[in-house]
Amino acid sequence: MLNGEPGATISQFIDDAKHIDLLSEKGVSARLGLLLYGPPGTGKSLLAGHVAASLGRPFYIARLDSLISSRLGETAKNIRGVFEYVPAKKAVLFLDEMDAIAKVRDDRHELGELKRVVNTVLQGLDSLTDDVVTIAATNHPHLLDPAIWRRFPYKAEISLPDRDVRESLWLHFLYEGQEARRDEATLLAQVSDGLNGADIENIGLAARRRAILSGAEPALAKILLAVSGSRSGSARLIGNDDLDAQAKRTLSSFLSDKGGINQAEIARIIGVSRQMVNKYLKEVQDG
Ligand SMILES: Nc1ncnc2c1ncn2[C@@H]1O[C@H](COP(=O)(O)OP(=O)(O)OP(=O)(O)O)[C@@H](O)[C@H]1O
Ligand SMILES: [Mg+2]
Repeated sequence: MLNGEPGATISQFIDDAKHIDLLSEKGVSARLGLLLYGPPGTGKSLLAGHVAASLGRPFYIARLDSLISSRLGETAKNIRGVFEYVPAKKAVLFLDEMDAIAKVRDDRHELGELKRVVNTVLQGLDSLTDDVVTIAATNHPHLLDPAIWRRFPYKAEISLPDRDVRESLWLHFLYEGQEARRDEATLLAQVSDGLNGADIENIGLAARRRAILSGAEPALAKILLAVSGSRSGSARLIGNDDLDAQAKRTLSSFLSDKGGINQAEIARIIGVSRQMVNKYLKEVQDG
């Protein structure tokens, strides 16, 4: 599930890769390199696998961070090994966590080791035959060497999910796609801006685990509380016990501020009277 824009680049990439023989015959082929960049947990690694699957090609993953060694010369050797290992002919080579390269430094000659490693990657990319598809992913595109950047003509920015995508993610991960739960998914999408797909998956699966082990589905209020914690960087577990007054206060204020949800609706979600919600909001305001 993706926001619109990158989706278009990716379908174009898949289309071009599928017809690479025709395109090169006509002399208009481009190097089949796709760079996915954007914040963590937005599905870049997942997407690379999907691209390979929709091309029906074998998929080789190399995590650059795992090839980095503190021993001089070792990193370049590891990277060379990856490119030598990829069999020519219609493979997809996925270079994940590309920004790891930029962290290579060597104390003795300032940037000596970094240069050597970047050169090894460039040589590796250039050694691949035209029919090998390369996909690279990074959280920090600005750390990539410009020469590496140029080796990937197709670029797709994978950003945090927008509201529609969040709604689909909630529906999928929390409600297993049940259309009857659409309204709840809509509400969750409304208040979960800033969360990535991995966060939504985590909260959704945690809630389903609680439902299975306790025999009762966690109330929407508890899931919303987990969302509010996740957004403020203080993750909360979804517990089995009832919300205490403090949690109800936090939740009232969260829904009112961030979701712009009215007091009657908040009262219904939390299961208290509207007067009570009004009281909570006043208490929060008065600190
Ligand atoms: N847009 C999305 N659609 C479907 N699932 C998603 C999406 N974004 C994240 N996920 C879920 O979150 C998990 C983590 O995503 P993934 O590891 O692909 O993110 P990433 O962008 O590669 O993160 P990082 O930059 O940290 O490597 C995925 O396995 C998937 O289940
Ligand atoms: Mg990843």
